[in-house]
Amino acid sequence: TGAITLDEGFVNTGSTTSAITFLDGEKGILRYRGYPIEVLAQNCDFLEISYLLIYGDLPNAAQAAEFRSNIREHTLIHEEMRSFYDGFPRDAHPMAILSSVVGGLSTFYQDSLDPSDPRQVEISIHRLLAKLPTIAAYSYKKSNGQPFMYPQNRLGYCENFLQMMFATPTESYEIDPDFADALRLLLIVHADHEQNCSTSTVRMVGSSNANLFASISAGICALWGPLHGGANEACVNMLEQIVADGGDVQKYIDMAKDKTNNFRLMGFGHRVYKNFDPRAKIIKASCDRLLEKLDLDDPLFEVAQRLEESALQDEYFVERKLYPNVDFYSGVIYRALGIPVQMFTVLFAIGRLPGWIAHWHEMHQSPGKRIYRPRQVYTGATERAFVPLDQRP
Ligand code: CMC
Repeated sequence: TGAITLDEGFVNTGSTTSAITFLDGEKGILRYRGYPIEVLAQNCDFLEISYLLIYGDLPNAAQAAEFRSNIREHTLIHEEMRSFYDGFPRDAHPMAILSSVVGGLSTFYQDSLDPSDPRQVEISIHRLLAKLPTIAAYSYKKSNGQPFMYPQNRLGYCENFLQMMFATPTESYEIDPDFADALRLLLIVHADHEQNCSTSTVRMVGSSNANLFASISAGICALWGPLHGGANEACVNMLEQIVADGGDVQKYIDMAKDKTNNFRLMGFGHRVYKNFDPRAKIIKASCDRLLEKLDLDDPLFEVAQRLEESALQDEYFVERKLYPNVDFYSGVIYRALGIPVQMFTVLFAIGRLPGWIAHWHEMHQSPGKRIYRPRQVYTGATERAFVPLDQRP
């Protein structure tokens, strides 16, 4: 088999070829299927982006209409699945609920589990895209004890999600188009980011021919970790701490520069983007618009703005090319939309879903598809003599 090359953390190991997302960290370029993210963010809705990522091309008008209608058909979850939620404690983390219920889709939708049957795969794709916002909104309703709100198919994808989150049977929810647009942008900039931890997990699980629901459930678990999808939550927690501490942003900048402690400014810096994060640029504009319009009396927003300004002028951050990343602004926007901190990573999952599906689909269509099976370098004991139980010290 030859010598094994060790690459802990897969920093420099390509696990696959892929035609979905191109990124160049030095130049700050991100393209889905060849289209710059800035152009897509300005012109498309989230379902068009989903179609593009999964099928490779932007849909024409007829394809887009058919895709939308297929998704609308599946927005409800099976009525009996609502009882899943009765079994979860009220303080359960919504990401735990999300992965469990998505895994549970394979118990109720057994007619779309075969990865080798294109028709079944197609239905499972529609089901996932349609049902994830419903499953996610129910997890929030579970946490605050309000009745679940059914999806309303006359609404767009983002509008419907906001309605399921914030309407109640006694109080309708007026959808602010700027809120829906901010959400659209956030979902689009999160939709794919090549071989990150959760996407590689979806491919890994899918490579054994596990069904799409099971593979996506595994991806949700991978995303849950604070080193991956949890950073936006960490950023807002940090901003809250600065507010509670009197709003002295300079103190936190100094702490982040101080090499005698481990504190870092959350939402700053990126492994790949060393000049700027193109996603951050897009949502910063949306964030500024939203905050100006809402004129909210929340000291967190003011602290976020001062922190950003001061850090961007600080030599330490300039020298190391540390810019606000996508998570810096996304947390602030979610907060402005009234979305609770525990739901931030759930929103990331809704955004990343088409990317996960696209990679699973691409892998299954690849002629060279094999089960993922990395090797390891064994560092344990050499052969040892067995000692019977009654003679062990
Ligand atoms: N605050 C203060 N110093 C920092 C920060 C920060 N946020 N990020 C990096 N540095 C310093 C680091 O101490 C090092 O300094 P020196 O050269 O003096 O030792 C230098 O910058 C390079 O840092 P690194 O750790 O080698 O960079 P990395 O590429 O390994 O880490 C990162 C990238 C995102 C993990 C890191 O910048 C970080 O921890 N940021 C805060 C957490 C965060 O916002 N994460 C979300 C990332 S975006 C979501 C996604 O796309 O997945």
